[in-house]
Amino acid sequence: MKSFMATYLTETSAYHALAVHHQQIHDVHLRELFANDSTRGERLTLDALGIYFDYSKHRINDETVNLLLALAQERGVAEKRDAMFRGDKINVTEKRAVLHIALRAPRDAEIFVDGVNVVPEVHAVLDKMSAFSKRVRDGEWQGATGKRIRNVVNIGIGGSDLGPVMAYEALKFYSARDMNFRFVSNVDGTDFAEATRDLNADETLFIISSKTFTTQETMTNAQTARNWFLSQINDERAIAKHFVAVSTNEQEVVRFGIDAANMFVFWDWVGGRYSMDSAIGLSTMLAIGPENFRAMLDGFHAMDEHFRTAPFEKNMPVLMGLLAFWYNTFFDAQTIAVLPYDQYLKRFPAYLQQLTMESNGKRVTLQGETIEYQTSPIFWGEPGTNGQHSFYQLIHQGTKLIPCDFIAFTQTLNKLPPHHDILMANVFAQTEALAFGKTADEVRAEGTPEWLVPHRVFPGNRPTTTILAEKLDPATLGKLIALYEHSVFVQGALWDIDSFDQWGVELGKVLAKKILGELETGDLGTGDLRLEHDSSTNALIRKYRASKK
Ligand code: F6P
Repeated sequence: MKSFMATYLTETSAYHALAVHHQQIHDVHLRELFANDSTRGERLTLDALGIYFDYSKHRINDETVNLLLALAQERGVAEKRDAMFRGDKINVTEKRAVLHIALRAPRDAEIFVDGVNVVPEVHAVLDKMSAFSKRVRDGEWQGATGKRIRNVVNIGIGGSDLGPVMAYEALKFYSARDMNFRFVSNVDGTDFAEATRDLNADETLFIISSKTFTTQETMTNAQTARNWFLSQINDERAIAKHFVAVSTNEQEVVRFGIDAANMFVFWDWVGGRYSMDSAIGLSTMLAIGPENFRAMLDGFHAMDEHFRTAPFEKNMPVLMGLLAFWYNTFFDAQTIAVLPYDQYLKRFPAYLQQLTMESNGKRVTLQGETIEYQTSPIFWGEPGTNGQHSFYQLIHQGTKLIPCDFIAFTQTLNKLPPHHDILMANVFAQTEALAFGKTADEVRAEGTPEWLVPHRVFPGNRPTTTILAEKLDPATLGKLIALYEHSVFVQGALWDIDSFDQWGVELGKVLAKKILGELETGDLGTGDLRLEHDSSTNALIRKYRASKK
């Protein structure tokens, strides 16, 4: 593959041109941009795959877009994208292909890893998941005492949890309402205790979801689940009816005591945070059924194809990624708020946090050079309208610039007039208020006393994207997730980083193992165990040991 990253980002001509352009545009107000172009609100939009993407309320003009597109070209974004779709090992530090796009490829597609077409394997697993899900949902799969499964508990963490929880909540409307779905992720025993306290073991299925099957939190929770189960049903043979695994590591699954026949596999070319549409989505499929799950995959695939084929000026993930880059790099915007105006998307911001920040929270280039420019913004958010009564104050009148993604649906799944009109009125009002604000003269004209005027002024010029779709269904959810996945890819390509490794989680894991030994061993009373940490960590450990006594 041709290397497109020989030049350090800030030394490229496109970057220089953008820096100069930024000086010219950064004080221009959205009021002016809209006043000078009556078509702007319709022109700076995309309408593709049933998603209306309005980026007109951004601090950009046509030249900005052209310069950002030139940067994408100079950084080889298209070539990098093609390398990903081709199955090249673009995760260079782990020497792995990055092929979540293969998880949603149609049955007849061909995508090769080390000379092997992986698509038939993907569909074989999907078929196995479908058959299993049908049996469980129909009550044909019986527990050890002959009862049907009513409770599904997914045990996993990070990518083996956040996607499944988010998708379950997002698609709850389509879920089997006669079943309970619970998610246990935290190693804090409270998570497990609360998730299972009202469940009967003989009606419960545990899905142990872990790519590696070695993750401390998940293995601890899995062992606790096993003990909990056996404390109610004292029969090791019953485990086969109540425990299944999702993993890439058959050896560890079998060692744990789960039959390989009850294992759903995925592959090292699926990153944890890109795995919710692999077998990691088993809980999702059990909840919404195989047909809905496949509709979700079709949605993902539609966005993949859009990303792969649409010209960059009409390419939603490309524009989204470029806009994130624009504020992060030139406006020193540290964060992006994701504000879904749909209660079902309440876990979407949390899901995006791993997707975006574990992917692009990096400080060296692919070649290992230290980076001196900004990489991933912090993603955060809460569903509207709740956020309006909490942190929107800062977005409207604070000192920080926070670009926001507003996500909304023209149709509600729960028709309770006048709720949806009110909800949508708030979406449109917020983006209008953020963009245009309220001037001192406008505040005065309302009869506001002079001393209060500055407090009531809204500066405006706060950028937003509005993402509008018809309704939240499985396909739309797939499109939305793939939109963010590919936007993350675009940003990583601009920054020349490995968006698919996560070395930053390692050090804490190693130290925790060492400290765990120190918490468990020795004479708890004397506190004389030789501790070789810094004085702060030593003191904290001693304090904990003393309280354990
Ligand atoms: O947090 C680090 C991480 O490796 C994530 O990338 C991953 O999603 C999570 O741990 C869980 O890993 P596993 O699925 O192997 O248990």
